[in-house]
Amino acid sequence: MKPKVYITRKLPSEVVYEIEQHCDINMWEEEDVPVPQEVLEENIKDIDGLYCLLTETIDDSLLQKATKLKVISNMAVGFNNIDVEAATKRGIAVLNTPGVLTETTADLTFALLMATARRLFEAEFFLRDGNWKTWSPMLLTGQDIHGATIGIVGLGRIGEAVARRAKGFGMKILYHNRSRKPDVERELDVEYVEFDDLLRKSDYVVLLTPYTHETKNLISSRELALMKKTSILINTSRGGIVNEAALYDSLQSGVIWGAGLDVFEEEPVSLDHPLLQLPQVVALPHIGSASIQTRLKMARLATDNLVQLLKGKKPEYIVNPNFSENITESVKE
Ligand code: DGY
Repeated sequence: MKPKVYITRKLPSEVVYEIEQHCDINMWEEEDVPVPQEVLEENIKDIDGLYCLLTETIDDSLLQKATKLKVISNMAVGFNNIDVEAATKRGIAVLNTPGVLTETTADLTFALLMATARRLFEAEFFLRDGNWKTWSPMLLTGQDIHGATIGIVGLGRIGEAVARRAKGFGMKILYHNRSRKPDVERELDVEYVEFDDLLRKSDYVVLLTPYTHETKNLISSRELALMKKTSILINTSRGGIVNEAALYDSLQSGVIWGAGLDVFEEEPVSLDHPLLQLPQVVALPHIGSASIQTRLKMARLATDNLVQLLKGKKPEYIVNPNFSENITESVKE
């Protein structure tokens, strides 16, 4: 008998086909609407595997209903939507999709930095609204990117890929990370600095750290006050890392110059959110990894992860600490 799997969003047919070769599937058929929690609660009861997205909250109370769940395969590198501790306690593997989205997310991060610095969207609306009357010396002037200092908070895979792009633009690169990375420092000419120093010295502060209890509201009034008046904050990680009320106040009162945000505390962000009322904010709908090629790679990797685990094999990426040793045991049960 094939293992039973629930898929929480309509996936491309080639991906569904691949999962069907190994599993009996049931899928939420909507493309643009997340599965309602009560539907998920019903479906999780007797499945072996769950294929989900970052839009699903997989918490302890949901997992209590899962009687035979062995694996949660998240089609994302971030897994803050899943209570990993609760899953681990129940012997459920949590799998994610790092690696395949690194370069695409770094591309978007850099594009967002450039769009914010050079006011690209404001300029576009200015033209389309018929406001372009003449060339004028200080019209729509922004901040220079070349030669500026970028401070990367979280030098993981994506942080390194952003550093490579910054190097190409002749930027000075600072970073702060839980651990120092001497090899990367040598290879990319990046300098490790304490967190407050990074905030003080950078023209661009780029957040690429995972969202955890420690990084919740990492950027709030104190941190923003340390930043330069001309600086720009870029967040392509998770919205909760920034205290949005503090960011609004700082932008409004000129404590910092601008912000490029691909992520928000509540997603989708409400259209009357104060940050969306500010012209110096460039706001995107969480599209860091959104290229056709990369989203397909993520979907396939999440599939491989799921299938491998259900076959009792060790998938490439397991989120639960020290979980791998127990896999075959937990799958056999
Ligand atoms: C992730 O994978 O965590 C991104 O936020 C979506 O690609």
